[in-house]
Amino acid sequence: MSSEWISPDRNLALELVRTTEAAALAAARWMGRGDKIGADQAAVDAMRSVLDGVQMDGTVIIGEGEKDEAPMLYNGERIGNGQPPHTDIAVDPIDGTTLTATGQAGAIAVISVAEKGSMYNPGPVTYMEKLAVGPSGKGIVDIRLPIERNLTALAKAQGRPVRDLNAVVLDRPRHQEIIDEIRSTGARITLISDGDVAGAIATAWPESGVDILFGIGGTPEGVITAAALKSMGGDLQGRLWPRNDEEREAALEQGYDLDEIIGLDDLITSDNCFFAATGITDGALLKGVHFGADAITTQSLVMRGRSGTVRQVEATHRPSKVAELRAAEGQ
Ligand code: FBP
Repeated sequence: MSSEWISPDRNLALELVRTTEAAALAAARWMGRGDKIGADQAAVDAMRSVLDGVQMDGTVIIGEGEKDEAPMLYNGERIGNGQPPHTDIAVDPIDGTTLTATGQAGAIAVISVAEKGSMYNPGPVTYMEKLAVGPSGKGIVDIRLPIERNLTALAKAQGRPVRDLNAVVLDRPRHQEIIDEIRSTGARITLISDGDVAGAIATAWPESGVDILFGIGGTPEGVITAAALKSMGGDLQGRLWPRNDEEREAALEQGYDLDEIIGLDDLITSDNCFFAATGITDGALLKGVHFGADAITTQSLVMRGRSGTVRQVEATHRPSKVAELRAAEGQ
C-alpha cells in the first residue's frame, strides 16, 4: 500500500458521488423515452465531464467497452486530473438502461474506484454466477453448496425461518432451475427485470427487505458491486459463466480458471476502495431523480471500503444557479 493512500485520509467517494449525480441527472431526462442508447450516451457524457475534475490518476478497468466502440469511458482510458492517487476505475453510468428507457424502477448510476492494480479484469467472460449476502451471511453461505443449504444456513444465522427470507433473482429463463429450488424451500423471491448491482447491494441494506441474491449477471457489474459489499461488510462470491464455446476457449487461452470461486478479495484485492451510486428511477435501494420547479433532487449512496462508512446523500440541485455560474465563468 503506497503512503499516498494513508495521508491525507481522503474519502474519494465523497467526490465521486458528484459523477454519479451528474450521470443520473442526465439519464433521468431520458426516462421512458424508449431510447437506451440516447440515455446511456447522456449519462456517459455527464459522468466523464465531472470525472476530469477529480484529483486522481485513474485507469478505466471496467468501462463502456473497447476504445473503437466507446468514445468515452473506454477500458484503458485515463481519467482524473492526472495527480496521485493512482487508481483503477469501474463505471456503469446506467445500470438498468432498459429500466431507464422504459421508465421502470431501479435504475442507478454507479462508480467504483480502488487502488491501482487491485481490480479484477473479467477478460472475455461477460457473465458470472453470483451469490451475494449482507453481513449476516458472510462466512455462512458458499456458492458451491446447493441453494437449499445456503438458505437454511442464512435463516439459522438470522434466527428466522427460511420462509421469511427474500431472495433476489434476475428474471431470466436461464434462472428457472434456481427459482424452482428457492421455491421448493418456501423462501420468498423478488424477480427483477434488470439491475443486479442494486439487487446485490440491497442484501446488505437492512431497509430493503432483501436477504440474498442468486443468479448469473454481468461480470463487470460484479466487480463494481464488490466495492460496495466490502464497505458494507457483506459478501459476494462468483464463478465465471461463459456464454458459448468461443468465450470459454478465449477465457481458457487467457489463463482464466472457470472453476475458480471468485471472492470479494479477488474482485477487488485492496480495502482501499470507494463506491458511489445515485438513483435514476425510484427503486427499493434509492429514490430516483425528482424534478421540481427550480430544484432537482437526487439520492445517493457513498461508501468507503477501509473505514466501512456508508453515507446516504440527499442533494438538491438548482439548475438556474448552475446556469448563472456557468455564464459567469464563460462556459
Ligand atoms: P445494463 O443496464 O448495462 O443493460 O445492465 C443491466 C443488467 O440487468 C445488469 O444489472 C445485469 O448484470 C445484466 O444486465 C444481466 O445481463 P442480461 O440482461 O444479459 O441477462
